[in-house]
Amino acid sequence: MRGINPFTPGIQKPEELVGRKEEVNLFNSYLSSTLAGQPVFMLVIGTKGIGKTSLLRYYQAIAEKNKALAVLFRSHKSDDLQRLIDELENTINEKISLGALTKKYTESLKNVKINDNNCEKTMEGIYTDMKKDLSAIVFLIDDAHNLSKESLRRLISLFTKLADKKIHYMLVLSSSGELHLHEYKELFRPIYVSELNQKDITELIEKSLAPSKIKVGEECLHTIIDDSQGHPLVLLTICWTIYDKIKENERIISRGHYIAYLPTIMSNLSRELFDDLYEETSSGEREVLGAFANGEATVSDVAVQLNKPLNTVTTLVLRLAESGNLRKIARGRYKIFNRLYGKYVLGRGQ
Ligand SMILES: Nc1ncnc2c1ncn2[C@@H]1O[C@H](COP(=O)(O)OP(=O)(O)OP(=O)(O)O)[C@@H](O)[C@H]1O
Ligand SMILES: [Mg+2]
Repeated sequence: MRGINPFTPGIQKPEELVGRKEEVNLFNSYLSSTLAGQPVFMLVIGTKGIGKTSLLRYYQAIAEKNKALAVLFRSHKSDDLQRLIDELENTINEKISLGALTKKYTESLKNVKINDNNCEKTMEGIYTDMKKDLSAIVFLIDDAHNLSKESLRRLISLFTKLADKKIHYMLVLSSSGELHLHEYKELFRPIYVSELNQKDITELIEKSLAPSKIKVGEECLHTIIDDSQGHPLVLLTICWTIYDKIKENERIISRGHYIAYLPTIMSNLSRELFDDLYEETSSGEREVLGAFANGEATVSDVAVQLNKPLNTVTTLVLRLAESGNLRKIARGRYKIFNRLYGKYVLGRGQ
């Protein structure tokens, strides 16, 4: 037995992430502003599987190193302000049970029914109590696109009031889209999580394979770089599949392996990512998506090709871009988010 597959999605520890220097530098500088009494709100934006949750976990680790309390949770549709307080309470209790905090700070939170009026006071109270032990309280809310418009408005209004009082509460949201925060544009610093570059991909593969002493041939590495296009979940799924299938005594992963296992890679990618992306599209969007399956195209070329009005195609393309199926490369020009996904889309269209 070769032990646990090092490419298993989700097992990577925050400190094992590759790349993301710029994203981490930005967080560090915004955290410093918060500690200096100028709290910052961040919005981490990126498509499915690009690394938003991983980045938030990394931010959590950095915040904790800086003596901040970091409250990380994934948002649900039904969330209201009570959820904030519940998660804050859970995090404090967890720190106490781990010995990282000694004093019981959650007494004042017991049995409080949170509403628009008392939430600010409650959070202010908690911070005042804790500030001898902590530098800041950082809320990291993953998948904030799940929140209703109203909950989002309340959340932002609350943090704005806390920030006006220079209380050290920092808010970091992640989302698969822009969240239409136009009215709060001044408040939020957006960070677009991008694909990993060639150097990061090579580092990730080499680091993961180091304990097993397995190597990847040059040609195979380039194929993996080309086909994953630096998308972390696509990359891990490709590598996970090959690692899973090679024989116990094999020490070199070659392009031959990649080609032979491609059908399994495609089937695993469908399960991990592609099915979800595709199932969310409407039949009109699918028709347009099919026209981009072989690579890039302009919206007007696609309109001509499908014999549809330009504004109809434009609307569908914008929706496909918002859901992560298409990527904008220039004005009016888009490409499919990933080459293997293009292959999948063509297969689905048959
Ligand atoms: N910079 C990175 N270095 C190494 N692995 C990464 C990196 N970013 C993401 N990963 C890995 O890629 C996988 C997908 O990342 P993650 O779950 O963070 O994406 P996500 O954007 O939150 O996806 P979703 O939209 O589905 O929630 C995870 O297994 C994670 O460990
Ligand atoms: Mg996630």
